[in-house]
Amino acid sequence: MLTHDRYEQLKQEINFHLYRYHVLDAPVVSDAEYDRLWREFQALEAAHPDWVTPDSPSQRAGAAISEKFEKVRHPRPILSLANAFGAEEARAWVERIRKLDERVETGKFTVEPKIDGLSVVLHYRNGVFSQGATRGDGEVGEDITANLRTVRTIPLKIPVDARQKSKVESPADQLTLFPTDLQPSAFALPDYLVVRGEVFITNRDFEALNQKLAEAGEKTYLNPRNTAAGALRQLDPAITATRPLTILVYQVVYWEDGKLVTRETGARAAPSQGTGIPTSQWELLQWLKSLGFPVTDVARRFDSIDEAIAYTETWDKRRDELGYEADGMVIKLDDLSLAAELGFVGKDPRGAVAFKFPAREVTTTLLGIEVEVGRTGVLTPRAALAAVEINGVIVKNATLHNFDYIAEKDIRLGDRVLVKRAGEVIPYVIGPVVDARTGAEQPYIPPAACPACGQPVEHFEGEVAWYCVNAACPAQLVRNVEHFVSKGAMDITGLGYKIVEQLIEAGLVKDVADLYLLTKEQLLALEGFADKKADNLLAAIHASAAQPLNRLITALGIHGVGEVMATDLSKNFPDLAALSLATVDDLQQIEGIGPNSAASIIDWFSRDANRTLLYKLNQAGVWPVASGQSPVANNQSLSGLTFVVTGTLPTLSREGVKEFIEQSGGKVTDSVSKKTSYLVLGENPGSKHDKALALGVPILDEAGLRKLVSE
Ligand code: IVH
Repeated sequence: MLTHDRYEQLKQEINFHLYRYHVLDAPVVSDAEYDRLWREFQALEAAHPDWVTPDSPSQRAGAAISEKFEKVRHPRPILSLANAFGAEEARAWVERIRKLDERVETGKFTVEPKIDGLSVVLHYRNGVFSQGATRGDGEVGEDITANLRTVRTIPLKIPVDARQKSKVESPADQLTLFPTDLQPSAFALPDYLVVRGEVFITNRDFEALNQKLAEAGEKTYLNPRNTAAGALRQLDPAITATRPLTILVYQVVYWEDGKLVTRETGARAAPSQGTGIPTSQWELLQWLKSLGFPVTDVARRFDSIDEAIAYTETWDKRRDELGYEADGMVIKLDDLSLAAELGFVGKDPRGAVAFKFPAREVTTTLLGIEVEVGRTGVLTPRAALAAVEINGVIVKNATLHNFDYIAEKDIRLGDRVLVKRAGEVIPYVIGPVVDARTGAEQPYIPPAACPACGQPVEHFEGEVAWYCVNAACPAQLVRNVEHFVSKGAMDITGLGYKIVEQLIEAGLVKDVADLYLLTKEQLLALEGFADKKADNLLAAIHASAAQPLNRLITALGIHGVGEVMATDLSKNFPDLAALSLATVDDLQQIEGIGPNSAASIIDWFSRDANRTLLYKLNQAGVWPVASGQSPVANNQSLSGLTFVVTGTLPTLSREGVKEFIEQSGGKVTDSVSKKTSYLVLGENPGSKHDKALALGVPILDEAGLRKLVSE
């Protein structure tokens, strides 16, 4: 495309997005995408100044005004900020203004969060809040005084009496440090003061609000900024009042004191004898705070741009700690007189720059919804997206949490969706950009059958998830086996994900019981298996057959049954056969087992595939009998006997044999003495063997021990 055509196209697009953003409060692209268009547009204008026409978005500070509210002309233009992406661009900014005024060289910098909210302008006459307006196009805003009055952190009268302020209890208020010990200011309160701040909603308040709306079955909001924008533009202030809006104030737009003096912020140095206002941004923030305005408590002042950048960059990583959405930090020349003298370019003051954090939210197209089957059979919807870059990573998939979420947010196939990728969190779909709909979007219908095995899916009372409860479902099998062999379950070492996949692919394992039927020949036929590896794996599998009942119950992966519940079950049922016969009532007798878990256990044992699995485990000798109820334990046949174990036993691990002996009433000690009843001998024994021989202590192998127990 010819560059001029591209320029015209960008102009149209940007004007459209500005209108959607400022007038309709319904942007269809994310800030990051808008920034990209804007930068391309600015570069074209810089290269071709002759193209610039009065309708260029660069020729006005904001967008058109909507007709709903009265108009308010701002006493001074409400400026915007130029962006800097990265340290280099921030240094380039300083370099540019240093060339204009060498005082920049030795000047200080104040750094503040760039709150992602709505800019508002607050007027105070003789200390009383008299008018509040939106930014509008930067020259004229809308009168939203009534709405702003409902924002509890906006002082209706300044200076605020600190004792009264402490009565405010909204969590948002705790964000800002209100002065408890107001210092007498060197500056008097001007008769007329106009300040500017950012209205926003904290993340916590936003989540609480959305939760409340969801519980009431109402539509939830996409993000705090949209919510705040909508709330400020309510024609009924009573509605605004129900939204948890708050504010941080950061600028004096205008002030007048007496009939004689009219000044622009910081245009001239403030006299220090009790009149005027501070001309350092840092001191201005303290002063605003002393008047009772909420002011950020993470602003800092630095002697050099490098320190300012370093501080800014620390917040890039910690931005979630702010408790509200910030899309960057603002680096400001601390000397406001100097900043004012430097003037502005278009709508951007030269004296400050927005150091942008990488965007975390972008919009893209939802191409489809894929359904994955997890180990426990839970079906999870996953968004297939038109590839999009978020903070340096190309994102093609994102989580949609669960099917209720899709319905609740009314996410449709083909929708333009807002996607968030923050920190290490898996990218997720926030919701649809409803205003970008063309009508071609299709509602999504969740599957009624498991996409992997075709069995009907089920829903458990009180849960949002849908499950495939077929234990033989191939999609679940890999994860099932992984869980079965894991540390807290059967603890079979050497059976990693890759090998599990290999075994399943070769058709050797169709359920977990098949593990115990594997032969050395079968393993040797698999890629990467040599003699020793095959031996080791088989030994580990067979050793696991001696794991106690609680571990086997855990290993089965019954929905809702974790290690603790499995142990409780093993204390109440001697084996899996007994457990499989339990009724809901039997199960609910056990502390910690409620109706949902009980139902899920019954459900598991009622399935044919699971019954077959139990039969196979039993046939393979994987059939532990629990302590307490077992005939073995009951006869306590080892009671009074002391054992020492040495060497490696064929099936029982060191822990396993100890448990085995103790369950039958015996004791295990470490060293052989005359009092030792038996030495249990395995392969490669140590010196204990010699000692036992010397002392004449009877020696058993594992089979002998088992025999002793069952006698
Ligand atoms: S200073 C001349 N400071 O960011 C002063 N702006 O992208 C210009 N914003 O329109 C603004 N936090 O609405 C300033 N601490 C902060 C800010 C801040 C948020 C907003 C403001 C501005 C936009 C520019």
